Amino acid sequence: MVEKIGKLKKEKNAVILAHFYQPDEIQAIADFVGDSLDLSRKAAACDADIIIFCGVHFMAGSAKILSPDKTVMIPEKSAGCPMADMVTAEDIKALRKEHPDAAVVAYVNSSVEVKAECDICCTSSNAIKIVNSLPNDEIVFVPDKNLGSYVAQFTDKKVILFSGYCPVHDRITLEDVEKARAAYPGVEILVHPECPAEVVAAADFAGSTAQIIDYATASDKKEFIIGTERGVLYPLEKKNPDKKFYMLAENFTCGGMKKTKLSDILECLETSKNEIIIDEEIRKKAEKSLIRMLEVK
Ligand code: 13P
Ligand code: SF4
Repeated sequence: MVEKIGKLKKEKNAVILAHFYQPDEIQAIADFVGDSLDLSRKAAACDADIIIFCGVHFMAGSAKILSPDKTVMIPEKSAGCPMADMVTAEDIKALRKEHPDAAVVAYVNSSVEVKAECDICCTSSNAIKIVNSLPNDEIVFVPDKNLGSYVAQFTDKKVILFSGYCPVHDRITLEDVEKARAAYPGVEILVHPECPAEVVAAADFAGSTAQIIDYATASDKKEFIIGTERGVLYPLEKKNPDKKFYMLAENFTCGGMKKTKLSDILECLETSKNEIIIDEEIRKKAEKSLIRMLEVK
């Protein structure tokens, strides 16, 4: 199957992009593996005709928004992110009425319609920079209340939070942190800012998936406790064969991310199944929010 995928990929000038939460065998065959921000950049810049996006729907959607002339496919069309479904374009319109002077920042973990309605997007790796780049004193931050409250600590602006959350990260508790500290004394805890505020406060480092991987790789410490989806263990262990990584909690697994199968990638290449199609008017509006994000230095 891997051989067939490789052969067809060449023939069709296709590229396989994968997120760090993808199953090991998918990361192993991808042309590029990254966090949400790097994957968006890659999708905007690559010169392939076809992008097979191994991730959840909003990520493949961002690739299509930024590369409208390419065929973008998602191997499993039911691979969704529950947080992305927690806020709608209607919610944003209502929030704008309530807070007319605020800028609306949408985490990329959101629908195309929400991206079209907001002022600018952000990812977990650039959220602080994006919020501080805006002239407004008030920011409506959707959908993730945890990332929003994390960002609020690094800005003088008033951050108005929404109620969304990631079910995979939000269920991590202070008790998990205490247990991990007791099991691995002196070992640093690295978490994703989608974890609850008290967990982030009790951790040693918070960052996006790529930032967690970079932090552990650059450190001269030899052991780490990882507070994000377990898919990151694959790049962490590959880059750091001499280091040990322990999970902060059991079952730290994103169901949507784990739906990708090699057989579906092959089927995409053979039959062009599950192509992402976006209404052009909405796409253009959503593109502005993503481009605005990518332009913030
Ligand atoms: P990153 O932006 O860190 O890749 O995270 C995406 C995500 O879905 C985290 O749950
Ligand atoms: Fe969505 Fe959470 Fe899965 Fe990330 S880990 S894709 S935020 S459900």
